[in-house]
Amino acid sequence: MDFELKSLSPIQAASQVCDALLVLVPDASPDKRATGALPELVASVIRQGDLDSGVGKQLSCYRPVGFKSARVQLVRAGDGSAASVRKAVLAGVASLKQPGVKKLGLVLSLFGAGADAVRAAVQACAEASYVYTTTKPSAKARILQQVVVGVGQASAVRAGFDAGRALVTGVEFAKEWANRPANHATPAMLADAARKLGRQRNIKTEVLGPKQVEALGMGSFLAVARGSAEPLRFIVMQYSGGAKGSAPVVLVGKGITFDTGGISLKPAPEMDEMKFDMGGAASVLGTFAALAELQPAINVVGLIPSCENMPDGLAVKPGDVVTSMSGQTIEILNTDAEGRLILCDALTYAARFKPHSVIDIATLTGACVIALGGVRSGLFSTRDDLAQALYKAGEAAQDPCWRMPLDDEYAEGLKSSFADMGNVAGRAGGAITAAKFLQKFTAELPWAHLDIAGTAWKSGAAKGSTGRPVPLLLQYLLDQAAAGKARPAAAGAKKPRKTARG
Ligand code: BES
Ligand code: MN
Ligand code: ZN
Repeated sequence: MDFELKSLSPIQAASQVCDALLVLVPDASPDKRATGALPELVASVIRQGDLDSGVGKQLSCYRPVGFKSARVQLVRAGDGSAASVRKAVLAGVASLKQPGVKKLGLVLSLFGAGADAVRAAVQACAEASYVYTTTKPSAKARILQQVVVGVGQASAVRAGFDAGRALVTGVEFAKEWANRPANHATPAMLADAARKLGRQRNIKTEVLGPKQVEALGMGSFLAVARGSAEPLRFIVMQYSGGAKGSAPVVLVGKGITFDTGGISLKPAPEMDEMKFDMGGAASVLGTFAALAELQPAINVVGLIPSCENMPDGLAVKPGDVVTSMSGQTIEILNTDAEGRLILCDALTYAARFKPHSVIDIATLTGACVIALGGVRSGLFSTRDDLAQALYKAGEAAQDPCWRMPLDDEYAEGLKSSFADMGNVAGRAGGAITAAKFLQKFTAELPWAHLDIAGTAWKSGAAKGSTGRPVPLLLQYLLDQAAAGKARPAAAGAKKPRKTARG
């Protein structure tokens, strides 16, 4: 999809030659003195009461007088906030899904659209027109190819537009990989995708196989991979846009390419959805794709432990005790609690980067789906400042999360008679006890955990990946890059100090 940003007055908008114009109409009363085809059309439509004021309410006009585009779609955009714009554009683009609409003019110049609103508009355009085609040759490919985004003054919202475009790349990268069936997205295939990203500017990718992972002592990760014929991969990516030596943000993504539950086998209904169990990994890859495009001044490491969780004669059995890379032993009481078993070793590995912060992203628990549904991701952190920053990033990016508790009492159930800990603690507070397990491997690290089991994909008729939480992660990284720049030590300093980023 191709996006272009243009300064476009309402008069110029009417003379744009596109297959369709999508005009966002704010609630604020229109300028009655404004002349020209577009303001006059909007004023008369509102005067006649033909366009209700609810966000997303629409009116289709065909060949209205004074316009060069045949289809002109008016859509209500409420207060013009990013949230309203998102809703309006989703609705508008959905109703313009017609064979003839390849080039769209998106008119945001009837109100003072800010950078956030422009970013939201670009994102929503892509979201509403996305089609998965990789394993479905009969699917009708995306029709919308070109979008001209018209605003009052392009230079004022350029940053939002660029972020929006990079987000489209990142979100669609994540969607693509999460949507692919497990036989089209094996750990080796994910690693190849990561290697390809490694060819882009400032990105390096390294891929470790079973032997190297064994040499590292990742006994917990290895235990999960044992039951599968697909060999595991441990993907290590580095984006170096920041000053040399400035501490990186480490993103750790759960990359279970299929979760059968292992010997603790899951029931058959909806088991197909466990192909999305690498949604955390997909979000890390997607975030790197967006970083490659935006090139912000920050260092980021991406770690992806990836394997299948399968039942087999060689598979790990309930009650088996394994030794994690940290040296702590784990009694695997339930082989279906495998996400934490691969993440714990990756979290131990993360410490070697002396990170500014470590954030793991995982479709970790069904309990989190029960707690928060599909609206907010679960956010867990031992650090208030990190939790705050992630929460704020989620709000700003319209990819929200909600902080959950980490009281030590929640770890009681993880006690084991045969190992340093068990890997499960009963049904109550399942999302929290899973986080408490991970916390045992983060020692002094500034660590946060995002449980995206409810938000990474949708079930039902519109089954598919959402690409979340790429928007949240990218927003957090851009916020960190901006904060780093504000501090003189980190801003392009020739001799960076060791702890330039605090
Ligand atoms: N991948 C699942 C979590 C999951 C379940 C995500 C449903 C999305 C929808 C995870 O590996 C898992 O199986 N978790 C178990 C943990 C339990 C055994 C303690 C769960 O949530 O049931
Ligand atoms: Mn599982
Ligand atoms: Zn899983």
